[in-house]
Amino acid sequence: MILIKLGGSIITNKQKPLTPNLFAINKIVSQLKKIKEPIVVVHGGGSFGHYWSVRYNMHTEPAKYNRKGVSVVKNSMVELNKIILDSFLKHSLNPYCLPPTNFMFSNKADLKKVREIAKIAKAGLVPISFGDVMWHSKNKFYILSGDRIMGILSKILKPRLVIFVLNVDGIYSDMKTKKLLYEIKGKKTTISEVKMDITGGMTRKIKEAISISKSGTNVFLVNGNKPNRIVNAIRNGKFEGTLFRK
Ligand code: IPE
Repeated sequence: MILIKLGGSIITNKQKPLTPNLFAINKIVSQLKKIKEPIVVVHGGGSFGHYWSVRYNMHTEPAKYNRKGVSVVKNSMVELNKIILDSFLKHSLNPYCLPPTNFMFSNKADLKKVREIAKIAKAGLVPISFGDVMWHSKNKFYILSGDRIMGILSKILKPRLVIFVLNVDGIYSDMKTKKLLYEIKGKKTTISEVKMDITGGMTRKIKEAISISKSGTNVFLVNGNKPNRIVNAIRNGKFEGTLFRK
C-alpha cells in the first residue's frame, strides 16, 4: 500500500483565498490512475482550511478557539475535499471520503478504525482524508494537519512507501541555486543535522518525514507539477525528488 499526501501548496493557489488548482489536481489524479496497488490519500488545506485557520488564529494545540472559526475552517475543508473527491471520481478512481473524525478520538487514533482504512484501499477504493479542525475535549478544539495524519497512518498501516506531493522538487540544500538533496539517510537523522535551506512550513513536513522514515518506511518528497515522478517512484523505484531512506 502507498500513502500519499497532496499538499495544500499544490492542490490550491496559496496566493488566492479559496482557489483550488484544478489543473494540478486533475493532472496528478490522472497519473495516480496508473498505479496498480492500493493507495490511501490525505490532503492539506492550502488556501482553504489553512487560510481560515490563520485568519481565526487557530493552531495545533487544543484551545477554546473562536466558534465561528471552527465552523468556517471545517466547512472550507469539506468544500476542498469535495473538489478532490470529484476529480478522483471523474478519473474512475473510486474515492472513499474519510474525514479524520472517522478515525480519531480527541487527539488519539482509533486503532481499529485506522486498520479498516487499509481494507477499504485493498477493496479497490481510494480512502481520502484531510487536515481538519477537531474537537478535543472541555470546549477545546485543535488543528490536525494533514502531515500529522500522515505520521499517524504510517505508524499503524506501515505502507510500502509514503509520498508527500509538493509544489517544489523536494528539499534544496541551497534555495538560490535550487540544488536538490536527493537522499537523506540514516536512522539517527535529526532535523538540525540535515543541511538544507527551507521555509517554515517545510520544517514540520521534514520532521514528520524523518520520524516516519525512522520507523522503517521510506518517505519521498516530490513535485506535483511533474506527477509522472510519482508514478516513476512507485513503479520503477526512480526517485526524482528527495528520498528519506529508513
Ligand atoms: C491543513 O492541513 C489543516 C487545516 C488548517 C484545516 P495541512 O497543514 O496538512 O495543510 P497544507 O498541506 O500545509 O496546506
